Amino acid sequence: MSRKLLCARAVLANASKLVSFGSGSRESSIRLNFSEEIEESISDQISKELTAAYTYFAISSVFGNDTQALPGFHWLFDEFAKEELGHAKLWVDYLNIRGGKAKFKTVECVENEDWTPLKAVEKAIKMEKAMTWDLEKLRDLADKHCDYHFGKFVEDDFLTEQYDGLKKLGDLKTQIERVDDSFGLYMLDYNIFKKYKKKEKDE
Ligand SMILES: [Fe+2]
Repeated sequence: MSRKLLCARAVLANASKLVSFGSGSRESSIRLNFSEEIEESISDQISKELTAAYTYFAISSVFGNDTQALPGFHWLFDEFAKEELGHAKLWVDYLNIRGGKAKFKTVECVENEDWTPLKAVEKAIKMEKAMTWDLEKLRDLADKHCDYHFGKFVEDDFLTEQYDGLKKLGDLKTQIERVDDSFGLYMLDYNIFKKYKKKEKDE
């Protein structure tokens, strides 16, 4: 079957679901070729973004404690948390643009670990790799439902930033591993903190 015909079928299937949308409440008047599968997956993605924000926030709090006193890493993980919150908001806004609705779910509690900079960055790399893979799957869903607008949104607003972010985390992991004493860690943290101060000044 040709791609054109497959897309026409997907669009018609999504259009026929318009009548059931809204579960008793007002129906969206702007919904067009927006599949329930994509709508559900976006709600799952919102939960993942919020879980990441919660985790980064927890890690940031540990580095801000006087027992660690690492202002650079404290700021960095705080920034990561804010970024993830921003992503969750982007998804919610996108659902509204497409006439969908967000379903908010329970956010998983983060383990209270005794975080070190290396453990925290390794955790961030693991989470961001999983997140990138989830985004790639969302991009595939766009093709499955011939939803070009959604596919472009995933690519433009998320995928490029994900890969750039992973590279920065990989670099940071190598830099932490290269540091072999407490003075080195102090200098690394200081340099991160300096970036924070510069950013604060520029704003
Ligand atoms: Fe994110």
